[in-house]
Amino acid sequence: MTQQTAGAAAVPTPQEGAEPLVLGIETSCDETGVGIVRGTELLANAVASSMDQHAVFGGVIPEIAARAHVEAFRPTLAEALATAGVELDEVDAIAVTAGPGLNGALMVGVAAAKALALATGKPLYGVNHLVAHVGAAALEGGHLPEGLGALLVSGGHTEILRVGSLTRDVELLGSTIDDAAGEAYDKVARMLGLGYPGGPVIDRLAAEGDPKAIRYPRGLTQPKFVGTAEEPGPHRNDFSFSGVKTAVSRSIEHFERQGQEVPVEDVCAGFQAAVADVITAKAVRACREHGIGHLLLGGGVAANSGLRSLLAARCASAGISLRVPPFSLCTDNGAMVAALGARLVADGVQPSGLGFGTDPSLPVSTVSLPPA
Ligand code: KG4
Ligand code: ZN
Repeated sequence: MTQQTAGAAAVPTPQEGAEPLVLGIETSCDETGVGIVRGTELLANAVASSMDQHAVFGGVIPEIAARAHVEAFRPTLAEALATAGVELDEVDAIAVTAGPGLNGALMVGVAAAKALALATGKPLYGVNHLVAHVGAAALEGGHLPEGLGALLVSGGHTEILRVGSLTRDVELLGSTIDDAAGEAYDKVARMLGLGYPGGPVIDRLAAEGDPKAIRYPRGLTQPKFVGTAEEPGPHRNDFSFSGVKTAVSRSIEHFERQGQEVPVEDVCAGFQAAVADVITAKAVRACREHGIGHLLLGGGVAANSGLRSLLAARCASAGISLRVPPFSLCTDNGAMVAALGARLVADGVQPSGLGFGTDPSLPVSTVSLPPA
């Protein structure tokens, strides 16, 4: 088998009547994920996280993440194969996150995937991480409905997508212009001395505070950004969390200057209310304006109780059905990459070959990389 045939093989043909068996590899941030799926059936989802190594810095350090992927890859692969009871030779295809993400981290997964494809002669797909988050939902509720939207909120992204077809028509409707939502949680937690990651602890403390005690700004919602229904303004569907972060920092300074104890629970509750309000309002409006009847929530911040309850309520009153996959499929993992790979095989999309590289800012409209 030459390098050319291994990578640039034709569309895989699973055994007669069988759904495609695909191995997925994810290393775009701090999770090393290897998943195995057959069509929309989840067989294994092994994940190793380097989060503990980043905790002392209050955020993901790319170099540390990349090194951790190198160490974690082989055991994670072995675990996934053992759990699924599958030999590498049996899979129909391999899929790997090619972007977006941290470049050094992506390179580890892509290099590993190419090595496996070369050694086994299996076709390889370099896929889009964000679209893979959407693909993960098929592992819980089966094939995805038409008129689908996705709200992805994590430490690395805050995006609203329109998904006409998972493999051929994905459009970015809005994204953050500065921090990701989870990143804002992590930074606010740091200001309050609450440790990393900040989301879970702020979520817990927010439940004990008064969300109305301090009102924090809702970024990019002033009329000049909102536009009218007929004439959408710039950043209508985009997010910004720098204003709310600065406001939280100022309010903490204010209490300290006055010699008062910082009301941490109220700060958390006010911050969470602002973040959940702006994310849910924009997501629901974007759905309405793009004829989206089903919304999928993904990313680590999908665990947030304030966001979930407000989104559920606002979707219900707008007649939008909301789907939230189990948390293990919301955070970064290899099964979501495998699920997208299986869909690509089923839809007859050509594999990427071995000539592709990583793309840290891969646009969401590129679902998988075409052969070079
Ligand atoms: O998807 P994820 O595991 O991976 C990365 O983006 O790397 O998301 C992690 C992010 C962190 O920023 C964390 O603070 C946030 O998700 N997060 C939460 C909650 N649980 C995790 N944010 C708000 N509320 C939560 N309950
Ligand atoms: Zn992600």
